[in-house]
Amino acid sequence: MMDVHRSIWTQTNNITSNLNILWAMHEVCPQAHLIKLGTMGEYGTPGLDIPEGFFEVEFRGRRDRLPFPRQPGSFYHLSKVHDSHNTAFACKVFRLRATDVMQGVVFGTHIAEMNVDPRLRSRLDFDQCFGTTINRFCCQAIIHHPLTIYGAGGQRRGYLPLRDVMQCLHLILQNPPADGEYRVINQFDECYSIRELAQLVQDVSRELGYATCQTHYENPRIEAESHHYRPDREQLLQLGYRPHHDVKSEIRIMLNDLAQHAERIAAKRDLLIPDIRWDGSRRKSAALPAVKQHSQ
Ligand SMILES: NC(=O)c1ccc[n+]([C@@H]2O[C@H](COP(=O)([O-])OP(=O)(O)OC[C@H]3O[C@@H](n4cnc5c(N)ncnc54)[C@H](O)[C@@H]3O)[C@@H](O)[C@H]2O)c1
Repeated sequence: MMDVHRSIWTQTNNITSNLNILWAMHEVCPQAHLIKLGTMGEYGTPGLDIPEGFFEVEFRGRRDRLPFPRQPGSFYHLSKVHDSHNTAFACKVFRLRATDVMQGVVFGTHIAEMNVDPRLRSRLDFDQCFGTTINRFCCQAIIHHPLTIYGAGGQRRGYLPLRDVMQCLHLILQNPPADGEYRVINQFDECYSIRELAQLVQDVSRELGYATCQTHYENPRIEAESHHYRPDREQLLQLGYRPHHDVKSEIRIMLNDLAQHAERIAAKRDLLIPDIRWDGSRRKSAALPAVKQHSQ
């Protein structure tokens, strides 16, 4: 959302990479199962419950099973929608099999298998472009920076810890769709508003001795700040998925991991403040004004 160059780069990079994979599968390994990481952000925040990819619809007396409308909120999320369309089309015409995983917001610092060797640790982004909410809040808490809530903070999304993501992907791998099937699976554990998440991070931080407060920023994004949000997530449960980690205990693990890197985070504290405006007004250099500050 920064400018024309970044949005064209993002769409070109994502769409052509996925298209390359679809053609490579067609020409080299048509029996392979593509597990494509999509995002819950493809659906946006419609006024309806969100099914897993498809829904039954009746129009002028006729019924059909159709793709659920995608109403994403950024050019990046639009690139994922285009990927979904290309993947569904390739399944139809090339008879490929694919699972499009509509992932909620992922957070976490490591999975159990990485524990023994720090070199295996996952990278963790905490800047405003690539950093996801809980990762950013935890980095803020660890250096006693106020938690940056965009707008009113009523934006609801589905979240899941990195280690549960791995369990889901493993299950999907073990249970491939049929030849020619384009399958869509929603993948998240729990839904929270941004305000609720900030409170959770603040509560756990305090238990661990980190004093932090919350700051409301003018929302740099164009998005609903209060809305209906009730997505389905039945298929993974049917495949045997059992969430292992609740959000609060995962936050505790993260804060303990991140404490070892507090100095590195503090050195990049400028990255914690949103200064990219999604309306394209190009006010990029100045931090948006904090409109309200409180510590509950
Ligand atoms: N993080 C989230 O909350 C989230 C939520 C929904 C969907 N997703 C999707 O999950 C996918 C991964 O996102 P992420 O957050 O893990 O990002 P990430 O940046 O942490 O991981 C991306 C990985 O891809 C690798 N990579 C990039 N270009 C590559 C190339 N040309 N060849 C080989 N490897 C390459 C990078 O080195 C990196 O390891 C994306 O498709 C994203 O849209 C992420």
